[in-house]
Amino acid sequence: MNETSKNLNLFSIQLLEWYHLKGRFLPWRENIAPYPVWLAEIMLQQTTVATVKDYYARFLEKFPKIQDLAAADEEDVLHLWQGLGYYSRARNLHKCAQNIVCERGGVFPNTEKELLTLPGIGPYTAAAIAAIAFKEPATVVDGNVERIISRLYRIEEKLPKSRPLIKERAQALTSSSTPDHYAQAIMDLGATICTPKSPKCDVCPVSGFCQAYKEGDMLDYPKKKPKKAKPHKTGILYIFEDAQGNLYKEKRPEKGLLANLWQFPSTGWEQEQLPEELEQLLYDHEAADIGTYSHVFTHFKLTFDVKHIKLADTMPWDYENKPIPTLMKKALTLLKNNLH
Ligand code: ADE
Repeated sequence: MNETSKNLNLFSIQLLEWYHLKGRFLPWRENIAPYPVWLAEIMLQQTTVATVKDYYARFLEKFPKIQDLAAADEEDVLHLWQGLGYYSRARNLHKCAQNIVCERGGVFPNTEKELLTLPGIGPYTAAAIAAIAFKEPATVVDGNVERIISRLYRIEEKLPKSRPLIKERAQALTSSSTPDHYAQAIMDLGATICTPKSPKCDVCPVSGFCQAYKEGDMLDYPKKKPKKAKPHKTGILYIFEDAQGNLYKEKRPEKGLLANLWQFPSTGWEQEQLPEELEQLLYDHEAADIGTYSHVFTHFKLTFDVKHIKLADTMPWDYENKPIPTLMKKALTLLKNNLH
């Protein structure tokens, strides 16, 4: 073993020692099998650990086996996912479960390469499942790992251009004997020690390997290309309420943003006008302004003026248990706070 590989080895030994002492107890770390590992990794893609915990427990309770999930209605899956955001993850989760049950006899593929071919499984998730569930020495690289590696090696090239170099460095550090623990350990290091704004270098198990720590300029890494400002759209959202307190909702198209979810009709961001029958209702009734709120999507920010239209008639509206996105729940909160 040459000096460099000895050093790389020492890095993972120190990281793993720390992980065994200080790693987080997380529900998905107690149940190591492909299905729960996959479920947790999909949920964790764009959501914090604290939020995922409850959803993870509820999903496993409702769908204890992948066969249960595959057999569910998509609407039930979306309903259970409600509030986690990025709903294409839920639709792909469902598709992936059906693929595994129908095409693969309920057995997950056990390599990073094959996992990558499944719906909703990108490079990070494929590596995480391969490492954690199948002990393949696959390397997880997410924003946390990018930050860690950029600091360890003071990588001057800016993200996203620096990604191939970061991946190469991260691969060289990955433990081949316990890739499962290594993946979780590097995640914990990024989440609890090597944090973006106030890294806890004094208690970092691998600070001795960190060039940025040595130079005292950890906060300058990772170097990033400046982000473009998000476009800001504005619209009007209408809450029509009938005499029974039922609220009108419409189902979104099956493709695109928030596909298949239900919403209050709104204009200004995707469509300019309400459907004719709603325009007529609006013409015949008074609309109360109940406030304004904003929601930030990946590619744009949206602000709604919210109007409440109370009807004297009972309408045939029954949308109990329809999955609605957080964007729409915010309108409901406004309504509740504005019982005028
Ligand atoms: N983020 C993504 N995967 C994770 C995991 N397995 N544990 C903690 N945080 C994560």
